[in-house]
Amino acid sequence: MASTKNRTEMMNVKKYLIVVVAILFFPFCSNAQPLKSDNKILIVYLSRTNNTKAIAQLIHKKVGGDLVALELETPYPANYGATVQQVVRENESGYLPPLKTKIDSIQSYGIVFVGFPTWGMKLPPPMKSFLKQYDLRGKTVVPFNTNDGYGIGSSFDTVKELCADCNVLEGFTIRGGADTDGIARLTKDENLKEAERKVNDWLKKIQLVKQKS
Ligand SMILES: Cc1cc2nc3c(=O)[nH]c(=O)nc-3n(C[C@H](O)[C@H](O)[C@H](O)COP(=O)(O)O)c2cc1C
Repeated sequence: MASTKNRTEMMNVKKYLIVVVAILFFPFCSNAQPLKSDNKILIVYLSRTNNTKAIAQLIHKKVGGDLVALELETPYPANYGATVQQVVRENESGYLPPLKTKIDSIQSYGIVFVGFPTWGMKLPPPMKSFLKQYDLRGKTVVPFNTNDGYGIGSSFDTVKELCADCNVLEGFTIRGGADTDGIARLTKDENLKEAERKVNDWLKKIQLVKQKS
């Protein structure tokens, strides 16, 4: 009788230990890395025809934080061809267009998403202005991009160069607009739904998952 009681007690102790070990080690086994509440998020994006803005909004919906559109002191021309030519000249001379947008307390953010379209297969000059103007050292930087089907070009590499002391995570890229004919592809519902699935998969993959509660 006594030995049966002892065995039952031992089994209970074992069960208890298993539960304690499982609780202690669960965070290391889980793929998700919940965002800590003290890790403030900033989502900065450049968007001329709202495709990159649509992706920025999807990211914001999933991870929260502050959403900021980059605006210039002197906007680019409305005409596509004129903008292309101006960007070519700016890239050749290394001109950094001054930003109208000011970001308060950049030091308070731990994670900074940077979104932009591909321009001339490069990072657009205004995003270079942002990355040079603000000190993002020590922060996690997450690039995202839309383009007209030709990809990111050198844009993600330039983000890494300009953020040498940042932890730059794997970026996200998706087909955006055909700027020449003014189609903002990602503002259409069916494309947006597909984009949302892709954004959510990417956020899971890079382990930026919104904390529950
Ligand atoms: C000045 C300029 C240059 C562009 N160059 C490229 C390019 O090199 N490759 C590409 O795939 N798309 C290019 N595009 C198209 C945009 O990347 C694409 O339409 C993007 O989705 C626009 O994003 P937005 O709506 O957020 O402005 C260019 C657009 C502009 C305005």
